[in-house]
Amino acid sequence: MYQDLNKQVVVVTGGSRGIGRAIGERLAQEGMKVVINYHSNREEAQTVVDKIKAHGGQAVAVQGDVSQESDVHNLLQTALQEFGRLDVWVNNAGVESYAPTEKVSLSDWQKVIDINLNGLFLGSMAAIRHFLQQDQVGNIINVSSVHEQIPWPGFTSYAVSKGGSKMFTQTVAMEYAKHNIRINAIAPGAIDTPINAEKFADEANKQDTIDLIPMARIGKPKEVAAAAAWLASQESSYVTGATIFVDGGMTLYPSFAEGKG
Ligand code: NAI
Repeated sequence: MYQDLNKQVVVVTGGSRGIGRAIGERLAQEGMKVVINYHSNREEAQTVVDKIKAHGGQAVAVQGDVSQESDVHNLLQTALQEFGRLDVWVNNAGVESYAPTEKVSLSDWQKVIDINLNGLFLGSMAAIRHFLQQDQVGNIINVSSVHEQIPWPGFTSYAVSKGGSKMFTQTVAMEYAKHNIRINAIAPGAIDTPINAEKFADEANKQDTIDLIPMARIGKPKEVAAAAAWLASQESSYVTGATIFVDGGMTLYPSFAEGKG
């Protein structure tokens, strides 16, 4: 438990399922008041809010597309109206799209960049402007991916968006460090969430993924959420511009295991 998080306020984008849901629920356990942003599934988001409330926490579900500036503005306003402040902003919403690069349409490319990268920019800007206006300590957490480091053929837009997220995190961390605004990233490996449901439904595909992981298992959303709780808390007070890999060792060049190479 991180006592300093008690009664603080967090916005989690794409918080109705998967990693975002786990982050919202974990931060609520820490006593934070949570704004759960969802894109299209109100029922899913309400389930998360109801669960948090059933455990004595405070949460609200807010519809919004992270690639739309007005929707992101509305997320911030809701946090302020409902809970009176903002302490932490988690840019989690993300999508991926597969196609060989020569077949990627401009609109498919733009969709991934709009949500994964422009959405992260808009969310961070809303939070930073607020933190500066209030002259307060601020904290931003970006859910990136091991693909901010590992190239991923067929998922070029996704890898580019996560590579951009890495440089955004580092650049903005440097820019606002003097204002006590920290910005860090979490890079999950293969995590058991709806984004992977189809792939992992096929045992052979799932095993192909497991073969890339030194710890030889798929990660759990709550293992990513644990890193988010630490980054949100003052326990990480001297950490900014960092990426925490939560990947079972996926980024450790597993093809070199057992002395190969
Ligand atoms: P997911 O598909 O379960 O969740 C993604 C969430 O983003 C959904 O709630 C979806 O509604 C929301 N979203 C999509 N477009 C949106 C928009 N325009 N505005 C607001 N919300 C929107 O996937 P998962 O796995 O929970 O992904 C969360 C983040 O973690 C993503 O950024 C993803 O790239 C990243 N990630 C996931 C990994 C995994 O293995 N599951 C691995 C590495 C990174």
